Amino acid sequence: MEKKSAKSFIQEIAKFCKEKGFVFPSCEIYGGFSGFYDYGPLGVELKKNIKDEWWNTFVRQRDDVVGIDACTITHAMVWKASGHVESFTDPLIECKKCHKRFRADHFIEDSLGISVDGITIEQINEIIEKHSLKCPYCKGELTSAKAFNLMFKTFVGAVEDESSIAYLRPETAQLMFTNFKLVMKASRLKLPFGIAQIGRAYRNEISPRDFLFRMREFEQMEIEYFVHPDKLNDCPYLNEELLNFELNVYSAEMQKKGEKHKKMKLKEALEKGIIKTAWHGYWLVLMYKWFVDLGVNPEKLRIRQHLPEELSHYALDTWDIEYEFPFGWKEIHGMANRTTYDLERHMKFSGKDLTYFDEETKKKIVPYVVAEPSQGVDRAFLVFIIDAYTKEKDRIVLKLHPRLAPYKVAVFPLVKRDGLDKKAKEIHEMLKKDFTSFYDEKGSIGRRYARQDEIGTPFCITIDYQTLEDDTVTIRDRDTKEQIRVKVSELKKILYELIYNGVKFEEIKKKL
Ligand code: GLY
Repeated sequence: MEKKSAKSFIQEIAKFCKEKGFVFPSCEIYGGFSGFYDYGPLGVELKKNIKDEWWNTFVRQRDDVVGIDACTITHAMVWKASGHVESFTDPLIECKKCHKRFRADHFIEDSLGISVDGITIEQINEIIEKHSLKCPYCKGELTSAKAFNLMFKTFVGAVEDESSIAYLRPETAQLMFTNFKLVMKASRLKLPFGIAQIGRAYRNEISPRDFLFRMREFEQMEIEYFVHPDKLNDCPYLNEELLNFELNVYSAEMQKKGEKHKKMKLKEALEKGIIKTAWHGYWLVLMYKWFVDLGVNPEKLRIRQHLPEELSHYALDTWDIEYEFPFGWKEIHGMANRTTYDLERHMKFSGKDLTYFDEETKKKIVPYVVAEPSQGVDRAFLVFIIDAYTKEKDRIVLKLHPRLAPYKVAVFPLVKRDGLDKKAKEIHEMLKKDFTSFYDEKGSIGRRYARQDEIGTPFCITIDYQTLEDDTVTIRDRDTKEQIRVKVSELKKILYELIYNGVKFEEIKKKL
């Protein structure tokens, strides 16, 4: 998509989200607050469903992953040890005349239409000089680029000095490392195992942009997966289904050669050494599949390996899952091999022993983070909305996966009289116990269907005159607009099949 139309599409999505009650600009009555968004009545439901799907899949349904929920205001030493105080920076430039500030790599990308991932400060300064780049607002001269730390700083307690500095965590990950020993002991965990967390993180982005894509306060869903350092390929969960799963793969080598991403089975990517360890491949497929199973178009997903110059200070090898947004392929999930870096650093800075006793060799070892599945909830939210947002001839329909939809059902009386409304309210009350249900009796039935299509409600239940005679209702399918008639006594069971068991509307229709 062209840059201009990509921008207007994102604006259209932001407007849609605001009007329907998914997402609001934060503090709008005071003019807004760049990089901050609040979730409205529908957004909070969709976001909760995303987090629940993730937590159920990767924590509750596994015996080898446990969760924590740690503080978001954190001890300064955590970030000294992790390397964030020193290295968690973006390059900043400023206009000498109007004093507007820009993230330098984005500024160059926008000005010259080139990709400069992993560029150094020196290279930035060379490019700015070579192309005589100026402030886009006032044409003023620009300062040299300098490193700007993205962490929000605060002070804890009544005194504001060096000793009371704390940071709002820029990633949930570090709290998995600081709690590592406590979690391992309390849950009696044996390698390999993972610690998961969903929670808020904060980054003082120089130029937040693209709606929910780059925010200053956001939520992460992360796992630190620990294995024995000598067993990076001993993944007992890799079965034929996962090995034969096809991914769009874009390795660092393909990028260097100027090639496009290629379709490849995990098996091939491992055999050819493109993905270096079985564990990394395993987690990449699981996370990719999570998006696909929740309805995201697989053609818009790929895994992309970081170029050496892009790697974070803690990473040996990183693969992102990217989605093809209207503004280009962008990261929606990052998965680094963090080695023993973090535990080693915390041992060094805290003086505490964070090792693991290996029963087999009777030796203490430092567990190895072979993969860190990490993703932003808000980016996932944006992907699900954009992927589902469909303009048809006569309607806008949000084709969210039923498991994610804010309302699973809507219940309507055909007309608001003759006892149809009373019966519809009874059915709504009955369904509400098991499904999020919306009751609507206002306006024409067509208008009511259209309102639900727009907010992604997969099934609408209509109570009509026949209901009063034989206790049946109609279920209308959002995507096909087709209807079936079912007994009220079977309604819950059928809805459960449709929403949670993945049974297709067509199959239910055939069986009736
Ligand atoms: N923990 C990795 C990240 O926040 O990017």
